[in-house]
Amino acid sequence: MVVVMSPEATDEDVAAVVARVEGVGGEAFVSKGVVRTIIGLVGDIESFHHLNLRTLRGVADVHRISDPYKLVSRQHHPERSTVWVGDAARRVPIGPDTFTFIAGPCAVETPQQTLEAAQMAQSAGATLLRGGAYKPRTSPYAFQGLGVKGLEILTDVREATGLPIVTEVVDARDVPVVAEHADMLQIGTRNMANFGLLQAAGESGKPVLLKRGMTATIEEWLMAAEYIAQRGNLDVVLCERGIRTFEPATRNTLDISAVPVVQATSHLPIIVDPSHAAGRKDLVVPLSRAAIAVGADGVIVDVHPRPEAALCDGPQALLGTELRELAQAVRQLPPAVGRVDA
Ligand code: E4P
Ligand code: PEP
Repeated sequence: MVVVMSPEATDEDVAAVVARVEGVGGEAFVSKGVVRTIIGLVGDIESFHHLNLRTLRGVADVHRISDPYKLVSRQHHPERSTVWVGDAARRVPIGPDTFTFIAGPCAVETPQQTLEAAQMAQSAGATLLRGGAYKPRTSPYAFQGLGVKGLEILTDVREATGLPIVTEVVDARDVPVVAEHADMLQIGTRNMANFGLLQAAGESGKPVLLKRGMTATIEEWLMAAEYIAQRGNLDVVLCERGIRTFEPATRNTLDISAVPVVQATSHLPIIVDPSHAAGRKDLVVPLSRAAIAVGADGVIVDVHPRPEAALCDGPQALLGTELRELAQAVRQLPPAVGRVDA
């Protein structure tokens, strides 16, 4: 931590800062410049926070040097991590050397629709199946998902296709039942800062796909991941799915820069969801290509056998030509950036 004194600060002001820091067992290194004095603090950062140094006379600013998140930070874990999803029968990596393609319906609606969507996903090259049994909807009158029945459909489809399942949990009380059925728990944009849910997912024993809150900064998102990690679960994959901006042409604005920013600061894998970012099927392939080019560790995409009849997010679901184009992109482009299929 560094304390920057204002140009008017006196020697007494500097001494007062030093005394306070030393009072909690820290060390303070004073460096006098021509205009300003800065003080470098060494010791327990948490105890420095309680000193309220900004309130002292002559203090202009206080800067943090180390990340506020610890377990998910790259500062203490320089190697990027790989998270494995699935069991001994089928384990799929998500990490720096591979490119993982996840696809499936936005929502589990019927056994037939889920199986057809899974087969479409698998034929296009997906190695993990997505699909929501619990849907976080804006309207309480909209389709909320089939709940446990939906989880059972997913496990039947896993049995039929061999694809491990990624599915969302929206309530901490449902974590045990979702973890019992799923290979990976998803925490969606609307629950990124639901700290009780994050902690419950951290104790679930299953890998977690943590989507970025639509109004969250990258630091807030990584702090949310830290909640999961703090409960002993470092198997966390981040998912950039677009943020709210003033631009109405897309449902959200895909923050493609989040991918390299996160990779520079955290060791956790990061994938991209072009479907929920765009909200339109015509943009899913271009955004997927962008995700591959920028170095994402995978993509997660909505597919549906009959988008016009989908109970959730039909306009962004792929089939036919677009799905074939996506299949080609995820097969051809990752090797060009040094990645193999997962
Ligand atoms: C859920 O899967 C959807 O992507 C999204 O949360 C639904 O938003 P809506 O309820 O506003 O349609
Ligand atoms: C989803 O993937 O089904 C979903 C609801 O996504 P998001 O949380 O990103 O809106």
